[in-house]
Amino acid sequence: MHQDGDSDRINIAIDGPAGAGKSTVARKVAEQLGFIYIDTGAMYRAVTLSALRKSIQPQDRDKLAALAATLEIEMLPGENGQTVLVNGEDVTEHIRSREVTLVVSLVAANETVRTILGNMQRRLAERKGVVMDGRDIGSHVLPNAELKVFLTASVQERANRRFKEIAGTQSVTLEQLAQEIAERDRLDEQREIAPLICASDAIVMDSTAMTIQEVVAAIVKLSRTKLAEAK
Ligand code: CDP
Repeated sequence: MHQDGDSDRINIAIDGPAGAGKSTVARKVAEQLGFIYIDTGAMYRAVTLSALRKSIQPQDRDKLAALAATLEIEMLPGENGQTVLVNGEDVTEHIRSREVTLVVSLVAANETVRTILGNMQRRLAERKGVVMDGRDIGSHVLPNAELKVFLTASVQERANRRFKEIAGTQSVTLEQLAQEIAERDRLDEQREIAPLICASDAIVMDSTAMTIQEVVAAIVKLSRTKLAEAK
């Protein structure tokens, strides 16, 4: 018997490029396992939205760092996924806007922002039982996560999925989306601090030809094996 009760829980890291299906998959995996889902991209988006509202340029390192330090970001389980609050305001919808999406990778390259959010993320995962999705979770934030998945898909397929997801709510063509996704991949992969990278001990899943259900089932199966090992 372990006093802390954490011995039968694990942390699951799901990383990968934009539009690979991480958030849908991570949410469903968490649901099936009774775990908490944490969307770290939403945190970077929340900082980005706040910066845009204050007319702080993403490249203005010092102002951005100072702003991030003043933000209280809360992630609450909502009816359709996760509700995100910044200093008490519900920004769940606003952080998905095109304006935010276009500059979030620039904000995410800021070292202080990454340190602040990374520390928050580690605290949220302290008691285990967490499914966290992002870019650097397995490689940097939770290097000891018991299960790490790197979820990818071709750029074209990822653009198709995103196009369906935003279905007419934003005026952008499929070609534009594919270009923007490729550009975000490039920025995320090439930044100096905690870039998007597949951790050496991560399981790579290419979801180009897989359904969401298939990906979820595969990760849940892997999780159950890890859970049995953790006991
Ligand atoms: O959902 P989508 O794939 O569009 O992206 P997201 O998960 O909401 O993340 C938005 C952006 O935040 C990414 O393109 C990265 O620039 C940044 N991010 C990051 O740097 N590190 C993370 N752990 C999560 C997101």
